[in-house]
Amino acid sequence: MAKKLKKKINSMWGGRFSIQTSTIMEQINSSIAIDHRLAEQDIKGSIAHVKMLAHQKIISDKISEKILRGLVTVRDEIRNDELEFEVRLEDIHMNIESRLHDLIGPDAGFIHTARSRNDQVATDFRMWVRDSIDSIIPKISSNMDNFLELAEKNRETIMPGFTHLQSAQPITFGHHMLAYVEMLSRDKERFFEARRRLNECPLGSAALAGTSFPIDRVMTAKDLGFEKPMANSIDAVSDRDFALDFVSAASICATHLSRFAEELVIWSSEQFGFVQISDSFSTGSSIMPQKRNPDAAELIRAKVAIISGALISLLTVLKGLPLAYSKDLQEDKEIVFRVNDNLCLVLDAMAEMLTEITVNKKVLRKSAEAKFITATDLADYLVSNYNYNFRQSHQIVGKLVRKAEDLDCDLNELNINIFKQIEPDIDESVFDVLNVDNSVKSRGSYGGTSPTEVAARIIEWRKRIK
Ligand code: ARG
Repeated sequence: MAKKLKKKINSMWGGRFSIQTSTIMEQINSSIAIDHRLAEQDIKGSIAHVKMLAHQKIISDKISEKILRGLVTVRDEIRNDELEFEVRLEDIHMNIESRLHDLIGPDAGFIHTARSRNDQVATDFRMWVRDSIDSIIPKISSNMDNFLELAEKNRETIMPGFTHLQSAQPITFGHHMLAYVEMLSRDKERFFEARRRLNECPLGSAALAGTSFPIDRVMTAKDLGFEKPMANSIDAVSDRDFALDFVSAASICATHLSRFAEELVIWSSEQFGFVQISDSFSTGSSIMPQKRNPDAAELIRAKVAIISGALISLLTVLKGLPLAYSKDLQEDKEIVFRVNDNLCLVLDAMAEMLTEITVNKKVLRKSAEAKFITATDLADYLVSNYNYNFRQSHQIVGKLVRKAEDLDCDLNELNINIFKQIEPDIDESVFDVLNVDNSVKSRGSYGGTSPTEVAARIIEWRKRIK
């Protein structure tokens, strides 16, 4: 039977202290307002730990069963919102242990044999991040599905492709959508990678040096779904690479969403009119009745700043920390939770917004037929059919563009004689080369924008996604 804990001061560590902590100390020290979100993982971790302690005969079966029953009750109380957490008890770990103590008495004290909050929190947090990754991956998949859907419907939709946000060459809208499918699939891989790397268990590393109790770390690691126990107890309690991996994967993924959000803002503007974002994802103005603002896209763009800002925060928390544990590490949760919440929100918002985008095919086509967009096609044509190298033909087409500019017309409106002045053999077939459909069709190199290539990539993606 464990000795009755002194209820004075903080009963979890108050043994050597003679006066109470100040209120402001309690405030700065407490993390329960944030880390209550680790409750499920904490109880799961404790259950595995206690079972192992009993299996190893470090505690008796009787006490183990009593603790396990108590933990299930605490878990139910938390699930039913019946447990009021106390700031005085600092964090989720001590709130749970204290409640266990209230429920089963001093035997609760056996739970903390051969562990410390340092390995406990590292274990809980890894499990939390793992769960988060498991919920984020399907959200990325939904976005990929929806981009694919848009690609499928717009395999042949001609639009201007941009470099420097200047019309560059005609492309298909489907091809542009597939670019995001590629990005998101790399994002997914990054999360899978992060998950694989984090899946080693810190539990049993205790404060930093391991423990003298005959624990079985492989048993707890397996029980909690980890690949194996972490191999160095100092590393185990002080490493937050897994959180960095998570936050950086999130930042990259969010950056991709932000780039598309930015395109939506531009494309849905009056001046572009390429797409229409549905009313359900737009807002009006309180003063200008005609307005339809792409707020959701703008907010996705801004929330991404919060996510990548969090990456810098976490890097900065870690950069000056000596090994092993320092209390600074407590701040990692707030950062990671913020990243998780914002990323989930932007992924959900983007996925739904994508299903409600109207693509203005006519406007896109008209914009793609803007002046000189097929100038590169003409240059390629001169190289393929006449005896010019690319640099020479680039010069020639440059001159033709200048000529057309002087005449205030497009290349395909130039008289054939103007072409013939340059190359007497040129015939009417030059005008086919200047046509946007032909231009797009001709870009049949692997990964190019031709509708056949786009269709082939869509088929591949559909197979891969299945
Ligand atoms: N709430 C703490 C955290 O999140 C738990 C670990 C406390 N460890 C300690 N040595 N004070 O980091």
